[in-house]
Amino acid sequence: MSQGIVSIAYIGATIMFILALGGLSNPETSRRGNLYGILGMTMALLATIIGIVSDHYIILFGGLLIGGSIGMVLARKVAMTQMPELVAILHSLVGLAAVLVGFANFLDHGNVLSGIDKTIHDVETYLGILIGALTFSGSVIAFLKLSARISGKPLILPGKHWLNLTLLIGAVLLAFSFVNGSAHGGGTLALVLMTIISLGFGVHMVMAIGGADMPVVVSMLNSYSGWAAAATGFMLNNDLLIVVGALVGSSGAILSYIMCRAMNRRFLSVIAGGFGTSGGETAAGAEGEEGEIIAVEAVEVAEMLLDSKEIMIIPGYGMAVAQAQHIVNDITRKLRDKKINVRFGIHPVAGRMPGHMNVLLAEAKVPYDIVFELDEINGDFPDVDVSIVIGANDIVNPAAQEVPNSPIAGMPVLECWKGKTTIVLKRSMATGYAGVSNPLFYKENTRMLFGDAKESLSEVLKNLG
Ligand code: TAP
Repeated sequence: MSQGIVSIAYIGATIMFILALGGLSNPETSRRGNLYGILGMTMALLATIIGIVSDHYIILFGGLLIGGSIGMVLARKVAMTQMPELVAILHSLVGLAAVLVGFANFLDHGNVLSGIDKTIHDVETYLGILIGALTFSGSVIAFLKLSARISGKPLILPGKHWLNLTLLIGAVLLAFSFVNGSAHGGGTLALVLMTIISLGFGVHMVMAIGGADMPVVVSMLNSYSGWAAAATGFMLNNDLLIVVGALVGSSGAILSYIMCRAMNRRFLSVIAGGFGTSGGETAAGAEGEEGEIIAVEAVEVAEMLLDSKEIMIIPGYGMAVAQAQHIVNDITRKLRDKKINVRFGIHPVAGRMPGHMNVLLAEAKVPYDIVFELDEINGDFPDVDVSIVIGANDIVNPAAQEVPNSPIAGMPVLECWKGKTTIVLKRSMATGYAGVSNPLFYKENTRMLFGDAKESLSEVLKNLG
């Protein structure tokens, strides 16, 4: 295939990726966005396999077969609630690839460059390995935290900011040593030392971040993996990889910014770690007393719903675990048929990944025009008769506003307690992801419906007549 056709295919793939990002920004167009992404990736792969690779086809197809099969099995097996951990481990592979390509490129002595070209190439290699290594180790730790294989509690080492600064200075000094050394046929030791430092930095950075701030970490690592891919593109002189890496890197950075805004956090503070500590006092703990819980049965909940004019449904992670979205839609339809106004309030970090609730509600065919973001809906709670909190906890926790040293202090929450009645569906009094107890459960106008959300809602549906 001529270079011209490869370039055209790469430009086509780039356009597809941009259209994919545009499509994925809205639940209504996200399927189309996904299709554009698949098409773009197919074009990119074909152009690379047919147009660029000219040798070692057995290794190439072997790799494609093994990688493709693992990807297919994982994608089929993974539950929606495990998506963040899958994304984290996939990011780690992008980081690892950048490190391996970087070392291969450096050790490939056939790569004969000199003068300024060599310096530029060395800097690209150094940066690629640096970003790749910290993406790799940070993502592995994020995977371990998200899958609860290690504790989500932040590990705060004494003098952690000094440690980070020392690592940074070390990496900068080693960069000079590497570029100098490489010009005289050396530099390997500096490169290896920097890789170890970057791996350590990735581990330290994510270990220091508390459970409540993991959404920002996932999107931040997403961004890093994009920059790692872009750096690999520079090393390999591959324009498509540079462009796509930059697209992923910048969209990940924008997502991190959105996540930080949603959680009322400063990006730098999250990266520096120490937020989301579980050492803070919980609201109940602070007052020393938890108060009384009022439990209700499904039949009472059905009556309350039928007596309402304004209902707000607040879905959370537990709805995803229970896979209750279809019953939620059935209940919504039934209530709307009875001329009761039903709306959904979606918190930006509800569930375990950005847009998690929107995806589930779209799958269950809940109409888009009754689904509202936190900002759009939070002022309406005083007019709401009944809010149904389905497997949500942190996102409706008043401690975020009432307890200054709570791990979730300052995070905007859906203020359902300002409505007439709140019904909380969950199985026990267990805390949510951030590990903070929730004073909402003890409020006078809160009723608890204990049990698996799908089973509880099935009972409610039966009693709606
Ligand atoms: P959580 O605070 O995690 O609360 C979920 C609640 O669902 C739990 O308290 C649990 O209580 C209940 N639950 C679990 N399974 C259930 C079932 N089968 N039936 C009924 N209830 C069930 O969830 P949230 O309110 O959606 O908040 C999200 C949290 O995850 C935030 O802290 C956020 O920072 C974090 N996070 C979000 C993301 C993104 S990007 N969205 C990524 C990582 C982390 P029981 O065990 O008592 O049933």
